[in-house]
Amino acid sequence: MNNFEFKNPTKIIFGKDTIEKLENEIPKNAKVLLLYGGGSIKKNGIYEQVKAALANIELVEFGGIPANPEYAVLTEALEVIKNENITYLLAVGGGSVIDGTKFLSAAALFEGDTPWDILSKNIRTEKGMPFGTVLTLPATGSEMNSGAVITRAETKEKLSMGGPGLFPEFSILDPQVIASIPQRQLANGIADAFTHVLEQYMTYPIGALLQDRFAESILQTLIEIAPKVLKDPTDYKAASNFMWCCTMALNGLIQKGVPTDWAVHAIGHELTALYGIDHARTLAVIIPSHYKFNFETKKQKLAQYGERVWKIKEGSKDEKAYDAIDKTEAFFHKLGIDTKLSDYTDEHKGTAEEIAKRFTTRGWIALGEHKSLSPDKVEKIVKMAY
Ligand code: NZQ
Ligand code: ZN
Repeated sequence: MNNFEFKNPTKIIFGKDTIEKLENEIPKNAKVLLLYGGGSIKKNGIYEQVKAALANIELVEFGGIPANPEYAVLTEALEVIKNENITYLLAVGGGSVIDGTKFLSAAALFEGDTPWDILSKNIRTEKGMPFGTVLTLPATGSEMNSGAVITRAETKEKLSMGGPGLFPEFSILDPQVIASIPQRQLANGIADAFTHVLEQYMTYPIGALLQDRFAESILQTLIEIAPKVLKDPTDYKAASNFMWCCTMALNGLIQKGVPTDWAVHAIGHELTALYGIDHARTLAVIIPSHYKFNFETKKQKLAQYGERVWKIKEGSKDEKAYDAIDKTEAFFHKLGIDTKLSDYTDEHKGTAEEIAKRFTTRGWIALGEHKSLSPDKVEKIVKMAY
C-alpha cells in the first residue's frame, strides 16, 4: 500500500426530511446566494423546503446554471456575489450546480487577472468563499469532494479545478429527492458512480486489501440497487443506498494508498465538450476500449473484479478478465446507456485525432496509472470506441 494523508472536512447530514436542518448550518449573519439549475427544484418541492428552512436568513437567488456548468453563466453569478456583498454560497442541485458553486467559491476570492485562469492554468484553491450544498441528484460525489469541472461553450472546453479550499462545509443528502429524477439521469448517476470506483480500482494490485474491498462493495451495491432505483425511484431503501454509494465512490476514501487511472474521465470530458454528450455516457463509451487497449497492464485487477463482483467462475485469468469487460458493457446497456460514440453522433470522424491534439497541446502526454498513456494511444482508444 502507498503512503497517504487523508482529510475530508465535509459534514454529511443524511436521511429523510433533513433539508429542514439547513438553518443550523449557515452562520446567522451570513448573506447567502442560493444557486440552482434549470428549475427542477421548483417543480419537486425542494425549493419550498429550502426557502422555509432559510426563512430567517438574508437570501439572494441565482438560478439557471445549466448541466455541464457554463463559464459565461457563472461569470454573471460572480457579478451578483460582488454587487450584493454575498458572504456564503448554497448550492441546491446536482453535480453541475455544486461544481458551478465551487468555481464561484474560488473565483470570489481570486486575485488574478481573469477567473478562467483558475481552470486554464490549473490554479489550486487553498481558500474559497464558504459554501454548503443540498444534493438533488446522486452521481458525481461533488457534495463531499473538492473538485469541479467547468465548461466553456465558446471554446468547446471542459476543464477541471480543485484544491483543499473547495470542500463543502456541509452537504444535506435526503434520498427522497430521487423520486423526481428522470430515468435518463438516474441511469447516468449509477454509471458515473460505478465508473468513479473503476477509475480508482482498475489499475494493478498493490496489496491494499481493504481499499479493494471498499471499491468492490460499492460496485456490488450499485449493481444490486440499479434495477430497483430505475423501476421505482420512490423505493427509499434503494434510493438511500444509491445516494450513499455515489458519495462514497468519490469522497477520496477509496483512492487512498492506491494507484488511480482517471484517463476515462479525461477522454470523456472531451466528448462532452465536443458533442454535449451526458458525462456518464461518455464514460460508458470509453471504458470498454480503454480496458481492452490496456488489457495487459490491467488484467490482474480485471480478473479480480470479474471473480468478486460479477462472480465469474469459469475460464483462465485472462478469460475472466475479458469476460469482466463484457459484463461491464452489458451493465451499461441494461441501464439504457449506449457504449459506442456513433450511437451519439454521426460526426465522430476526426474526433480521436482532435482529442489527441488537445492533450498534446495541454501537455497531457502521460495519463493513466503508469503515466504511460500518450496522446497517440488515446487516439487509438477513441477510434476503438467509434
Ligand atoms: O438543472 P435542473 O433543472 O435542476 O435539472 C437537472 C439537470 O437537468 C436534473 N435534476 C437534478 N436533480 C433533479 C433533477 N431533475 C429532477 N429531480 C431532481 N431531484 O438533472 C439534470 C442533470 O443534472 P447535473 O447536475 O448536470 O447532473 P450530474 O449530477 O450528473 O452532474 C454532472 C456534472 O458533474 C461533473 C460532470 O462533468 C458534469 O459537468 N462531474 C463532477 C465531478 C466532481 N465534482 O467531482 C466528478 C464527475 O466525474 C463529473 O465530471
Ligand atoms: Zn464522473
